[in-house]
Formats: sequence, structure tokens, C-alpha cells
Amino acid sequence: MIYPWSEGAGPWNAGVPAGSAAKPSPEVRLPNPGGMRHLWQERKTSTMAVDQSGVWRFRELLPIVRDVERVVTLREGNTPLYEMPRSAELAGVDWLLAKHQGMNPSGSFKDTGMTAALSVAVERGFRWVACASTGNTSAAMAAYAARAGLRCIVFIPDGKIAWGKLSQAMDYSALTVQLKTDFDGCLKLLTKLVQQFPIYLLNSVNPYRLEGQKTPAMELVEQMEWQVPEHLVVPGGNLGNSSALGKGFLEMKHLGLIQRVPKISVIQAEGANPLYRWFTDENRETKPVKAETRATAIRIGNPASWKKASRVIEETGGWCEQVSEQEIALAKAEIGAEGVGCEPASAVTLAGLKKLVAAGRVTREERVVLVLTGHTLKDPQYTIDYHRGELLTAAEIAGATEGERVCHEALRKPPMVLEADEAVVLKVMEAHMAKTNVVGALTVPESSV
Ligand code: F0G
Repeated sequence: MIYPWSEGAGPWNAGVPAGSAAKPSPEVRLPNPGGMRHLWQERKTSTMAVDQSGVWRFRELLPIVRDVERVVTLREGNTPLYEMPRSAELAGVDWLLAKHQGMNPSGSFKDTGMTAALSVAVERGFRWVACASTGNTSAAMAAYAARAGLRCIVFIPDGKIAWGKLSQAMDYSALTVQLKTDFDGCLKLLTKLVQQFPIYLLNSVNPYRLEGQKTPAMELVEQMEWQVPEHLVVPGGNLGNSSALGKGFLEMKHLGLIQRVPKISVIQAEGANPLYRWFTDENRETKPVKAETRATAIRIGNPASWKKASRVIEETGGWCEQVSEQEIALAKAEIGAEGVGCEPASAVTLAGLKKLVAAGRVTREERVVLVLTGHTLKDPQYTIDYHRGELLTAAEIAGATEGERVCHEALRKPPMVLEADEAVVLKVMEAHMAKTNVVGALTVPESSV
């Protein structure tokens, strides 16, 4: 493979004298891994927008625009990698981290792909961009289109997306269309529309989206001092994210930046599980499903990147799992109780990890990273309904194990309305401590009560 940047001067060309007439062998033409790591690290201290972006900082692996200084960026990427000791204990592993992609500018991992694809749209002179979305793609696209001054139209399934996301599209001034169909129906209509009108399509079928979305793989190993985790757990909807991350790791291995790739496992909601069905089907038939789940971001029955994601799972030795609505709700509350929080679709990762550990597919010693894809404020209604006890049906709760029911009970914190009286408040706090087994009484000087 010849990399476009391997011709010029730079740290990646060590071993090839500048202006050398000798034709370098393919090995020599590969970038120098040490040089690239150093360059990417150096850019963190730069004041240039393109260097401050956690996507374009890795631009040697993104040769997709001619003029990198004109890219559309909101300083995406640069997301935190959190230690998750309590979730680790719940899942049965010693070492668990969460790469929180919900800490991107528009609150989801979509920003890393959008900066890349929208920059290409601008360079190619498009005036309109469009996407079909379960909410996050539309929020990201609307933000980046607004920055670039492009017209933008989003198609979202009527009544089936979280309000936080819908409000973002409007806030960023997109033409927001709620179609009376599901996500798959929205994508179908858009595919026909782009054949009749010069619109740049920004769904994850757009290859540049995946180029941007591969960069969190680089950022992750950089944050781990170039060590590679054993396992990466990713939610699966349209399957662009798992495909992109897989590509990122495989490219890094090819370039000698890492020596091996992590196993990549994809988790789907039981009601939107076409990949899981394919994975567990002897004949490996691809059959779309009618999707239904409260994790609306992954309510997709006919994923576009089906083949790419299945290849990533197989090539890396990962697995595909499905989780129930009750398991998703519990995992989301557990991630929230750790002070991290995420939207429901992201919580499938912890729920799925528990199952992978129980089935012996992940061992206790493996270093696991959950990819949390969206911010907890994307779907506050889900969280409020859960804590008020209005989310899960009686049948869903009946399907939980005794242990899970106890956890739900301990995690639920419904809001209370109390008299404005400190004695009343203290009584509630003491009752809470007794219930949650906190040792030691709440000692308040008599005079202050
Ligand atoms: N998590 C969140 C928060 C998402 O918004 C999505 C997809 C996924 C996971 C699944 O990622 O599709 O790459 O497998 N949301 C898309 C959207 C479909 O329109 O916002 P995927």
C-alpha cells in the first residue's frame, strides 16, 4: 500500500533521504510509527484549530481533503477515558475503562465522522447536505452544516427519537422533517432523493464518515500509552461505528503503531438485533427485522454497514450479543451511579459485557474498554421515567433475576417533594442511609437542627 504522505519530507519518511533518486522499497515507504506518535503528541500543544481537533490531529491517516486548514471543526474528539471500577465489579472483570464519545461537541460520537465528511462536502462545493437519523447524526450534521454555512435537511422517524436530539437539530437551524416511518424508511426515501437533487448524503454509508470515526481508536491507544486493550465493546445500530473502529485498529497494526488489535464485540438491543440473528444463524442469512427498543438511537432493523461490521467481529475474534430492555435500563443506571452517565444505546455495552463474561467470552484479567457513544442528557426522559418507576413494564421486571431486582431497587432515586424544613430533610437522609447500609449516623450539632 502506498500512503500519499510517504512521498514528502517528514518524520514518517525516516530512512528515505529527501530528493533521493533511489526508489524506496514498500517497507521503507511506510510511515515511521515513532515519528507519527511524536507528531500527534506535539500537536496537542498547538493553538491551531486543526491541531486541537482530536480527529484532524491524526490527519496523516485521513488523506481526504486537499486543504486541511479549511476543514470544518468544532474541536471534536479529545474525549475522556474513564476508569470504571464499580462497573468492572458488576461485570466481573478486574479492569474496565469507558471511552466516552458522548463528550464530543454535539454530545455523541457522530461528530468525529461529521467533521471529516462535511469537510469533503464543502471542498466539493455542495450547498445541501442531508441524512436520515435516529437523532444523533442529525444533531451532529446540523451543527457542522451551520458552522460551514451549508443548507441541511434531516429525516427522522416521527415520534421515535429523543427530544434532546430533535431540539439540537432545530437549535442548529436544520430543516427538520419527521417522517411517518421508521429509520429504515427514512433512509430509503433519502436514497431516492439524492438521485434527483444535488444533496451530499451524510449517513454512515458515506465513506468519509467512517474515516473520521476511526480516529477514536488512535486516541484510545494513545491515552493508554500505546498499549492495546484485549477487548472493545461497542453498541450496534447501523453498524458504522464498529466498522470504523475496526478499520482504525487494523490500519494502526498495518503501520506498526500497535502489534495486535483488540477483539471487537458488538451489542444490540433484543428488539433491534439483525446482526445478532445473523451471527447466531447457522446459515448466516442476512434478514432485516422490524426494530423496536427504547434505546431509540439503535432502533434499526436493516443496518447499512452489516458486512463491514461482521468482518470486523470475525477478523478481530470478537462476538455479537443481545440485551433486553430491562438489562439496558439497569446498566444505564449503573453507569450513571458511577458519575459518568450515558444515553440508553451506550449502556448496552455494560449489559452486553456482563453476558460476555458470564459466557466465558471475556475473562476476568482482560482489559476491556466500553465505547459510550452518547451523553446522558441526550435522552433525559428515559432517565426520569426509570427513576420514577415508569419505564419498565411489569412483565419486564418479572423477567429480571432476583439480583437484578435488588439492584434496580437500590439504584432508583425518584425525585421527592418535601416541606421546606431541615428536620424533614434530615429524616429523609437518615432513612436513605439506613436503606443503603452507609455506616455511621448523620451527626449534626443539636443547636443547628
Ligand atoms: N449509540 C448512539 C448514541 C447512536 O446514536 C448510534 C447510532 C449508535 C450507538 C449505533 O452506532 O449506527 O454506527 O452502529 N445512531 C445513528 C443516528 C443511527 O442516526 O444517530 P452505529
